[in-house]
Amino acid sequence: MAATEQELARGTWLVTGGCGFIGSEFLRQAHRALPDVRLVNLDSLSYAASPDRVAELEGSPRYRFVKGDISRPADVDAAMTACAQLSGAGGPTALINFAAESHVDRSLFTGMPFVMANTLGVQVLLEAGRKFVEKGVLKRFLQVSTDEVYGDVHEPHRSVETDPIHTSSPYSASKAGGELLVQAFVRSFKFPAIVTRCSNNYGPWHWPEKMIPLFIMRLLQGKKVPVYGDGMQKRDWIHVEDHAAGIMAALLRGQDGEIYNFDGEIEIDNLSLTRKLLSLAQRDESFIEYVKDRPGHDRRYALDSAKAQRELGWRQKWTLEAGLRQTFDWFVAHKSWLDKVLNEEYQSYYKQQYEVR
Ligand code: DAU
Repeated sequence: MAATEQELARGTWLVTGGCGFIGSEFLRQAHRALPDVRLVNLDSLSYAASPDRVAELEGSPRYRFVKGDISRPADVDAAMTACAQLSGAGGPTALINFAAESHVDRSLFTGMPFVMANTLGVQVLLEAGRKFVEKGVLKRFLQVSTDEVYGDVHEPHRSVETDPIHTSSPYSASKAGGELLVQAFVRSFKFPAIVTRCSNNYGPWHWPEKMIPLFIMRLLQGKKVPVYGDGMQKRDWIHVEDHAAGIMAALLRGQDGEIYNFDGEIEIDNLSLTRKLLSLAQRDESFIEYVKDRPGHDRRYALDSAKAQRELGWRQKWTLEAGLRQTFDWFVAHKSWLDKVLNEEYQSYYKQQYEVR
């Protein structure tokens, strides 16, 4: 029998990658909105994770943190045990997988960590989850995926959930691999899973390797921003709060075996977006530096979220203007967090990036 919303909202959720940008927003929303839900956060604390993002949950009797990697079965077992202890029952009621290697440029240096986390890691979670489904404990598995699995989308089409997968980078191929494994479990074992695909996120706490936080950070430092190629690539930006709310809606009200798209209904080319950021930072066009394009760079992503709106009752709340203002102000107010994350690993990655270009 499919899980009910009430049953899920009173359950214990294993959230993987909960110290990441999107997973942490989801944890904060779940902890604030659902007073009966218990939350276990399994995170390997790799370079882009930051426990500061979930500081407000520390000390809560409804929250546990487990350090571990989803590609290691023993770590996943430890998280399952933590769920059993926290729930006083058999294990997690829901498993929501945010854990991923997510930066396209890094996947072009080496795809191995991407396959480990985004493909192998999903298989490990599915195998562990299946045992709990068979015991009648795990009621829902949600795989957080990306619009990049659709690849380049030509105007005026917007990708719908039934479109074919057509990936371009090692990152998107590894995410597609994870998704296909989930769909294989749905088909072969009637595994109660949902897949969500989202467009480009932005907002507070974003790791400053992605375009918006990187550009904000560099402008605040008085440095130029590196625009790839001609800057005419288009992306569809969604505020991270809207994305996390969409995942919550899919988890609580979605149907097993379905895929749901989420986008911000904000399609804009990189150059126009850069100009908005320049204006927020009160910098002129001389702060743009055109650099060599990303290999295999997808020109356009665009999603159609009509299914999620219709079937889950979900809607985007943020406009780009309000969201960029809020995000810019957040980074100005959290300079100390930026200083903390600009560690050795970050510096050496960027050195490598610029040496290649
Ligand atoms: O579409 C969803 C995807 O969005 C997620 O699945 C990925 O995990 C996430 O990284 C993001 O992928 P993108 O490659 O679109 O995001 P990124 O912020 O790296 O780049 C956004 C656009 O800006 C893209 O066209 C490349 C361009 N860009 C990016 C960087 C970092 C630049 O022009 N200069 C830059 O320095």
